[in-house]
Amino acid sequence: MAKVIGFSGSTVKSGVVEKAMIKVLDATGQEYELVRLHTLNMKHCIGCVGCAHTNRCVLKDDVNDILGKIEQADAIVFGGLARFGQLNALTKVFIERLFPLFHNNILKDKLVASVAGGLFDQNSVAEELSSVFQAYKMEEVESLSIGGNASCYKCGKGETCENSAFRAKYGHDAKITDDTFYVFEKDELTVESAIRLGKQISEALSRK
Ligand SMILES: Cc1cc2nc3c(=O)[nH]c(=O)nc-3n(C[C@H](O)[C@H](O)[C@H](O)COP(=O)(O)O)c2cc1C
Repeated sequence: MAKVIGFSGSTVKSGVVEKAMIKVLDATGQEYELVRLHTLNMKHCIGCVGCAHTNRCVLKDDVNDILGKIEQADAIVFGGLARFGQLNALTKVFIERLFPLFHNNILKDKLVASVAGGLFDQNSVAEELSSVFQAYKMEEVESLSIGGNASCYKCGKGETCENSAFRAKYGHDAKITDDTFYVFEKDELTVESAIRLGKQISEALSRK
């Protein structure tokens, strides 16, 4: 059985990114692990380039173990989401910490796929991740875009606040109801796409 590793960049426990990733990983039919980045002890890259010859980071935290797991994995799934129109900070911090695998093309031709979440900007997230995969010379299978929920749905001012993402999405007179929340499991077409992506990863693995 091949090994697939997923990295969820969501800071929300059991949020939509995590649920979609589990669906994709499950559908691969392979042995898999989902790492929730917010649970890691992970400092930010200090740009020392001490990793150039060792393929490992000088910082003492959880990342070197993760680098080993990535090397061992046959395919990787990244889950990112939009914040302020771009890929969220936690996912970016993680990508920068993969720098030790950059210099010597350790990820070259490694299979990779992404799950991109957001209210409006999923496609930007998918594109940002894709450009990172290209920089690392990885082989991208596909990206899955999913919907998202704004914090403004539940802060109590979502229907009236001038900065409300809820109003930006549904209009100024809209009311917050259960239906306005994005529930991944109820988005049947996207669930099907997630299963399809898992199978595509598995097919790509069998061609390797
Ligand atoms: C601080 C913050 C900023 C956000 N900014 C954006 C944004 O600019 N564009 C967008 O599409 N979604 C934005 N979102 C919505 C998140 O992308 C959405 O909540 C995401 O799908 C959540 O996935 P999760 O449930 O796995 O955390 C923002 C959410 C937060 C908390």
